[in-house]
Amino acid sequence: MNPQTAALVRDSWAEITPIRKQVCADFYQRLFACHPELRPLFKGDIDRQTALFVTMLNTVVSALDNPEPVVPLIKTVGARHADYGVGDADYHKFAAVLLDSFAAALGERFTPQVRSAWAQVYAEVSATMRQGAEEAVH
Ligand code: HEM
Repeated sequence: MNPQTAALVRDSWAEITPIRKQVCADFYQRLFACHPELRPLFKGDIDRQTALFVTMLNTVVSALDNPEPVVPLIKTVGARHADYGVGDADYHKFAAVLLDSFAAALGERFTPQVRSAWAQVYAEVSATMRQGAEEAVH
C-alpha cells in the first residue's frame, strides 16, 4: 500500500476516534436498512458485533505499513465469514454502505481521495478474507 493512501486512512480513522463505535453502529443500521436480506446472517448481539468490527478495523489500520503479520488473522476471519454464509456479492454491498457511513461521519473531510483510500484498504482486506475462505475449503 502506498504511504499516502495509508496516511489518508490512518488520519481519517483517527479523526473519528471518539465516535468509532457510534459510526460502526450507524453502519450496521444502514446495512440492514439497505439490505434487509443480510440481517438474518447476524445471529449474535449487534452491540458486541459492532465492538468486534471496530477492533478489527483498529487492527487493520494499525497494520497498514506492515500488513504481513495480520494476514493470517484476516484469512481466519474470512474463513469464518464463509461459514456465516457471506458471499462475494455481500462484500460489495458491505463496502458501499461502510463508505457511506464514514462519509456521513466525516462530512467534507471525507474527500474523494479519502474515500478512494478506504475503498482500496477494504478491497485488500476483503480479498484476503475471501482468499482465507478459499484456502479453508481446500
Ligand atoms: C472488511 C470486511 C469485514 C470485516 C473486517 C469483518 C469483521 C468481522 C468480525 C471481526 C466479526 C466477529 C466474528 C469473527 O471474527 O468471526 C464478524 C462477524 C460477522 N460478519 Fe463480518 N466483517 C467483514 C465483512 C462482512 C461482510 C461483507 C458480511 C456480510 C454480510 C459480514 C457478516 C458478518 C456476520 C454474519 C458475522 C457473524 C455475526 C454473528 O455471529 O452474529 N461481514 N465480522
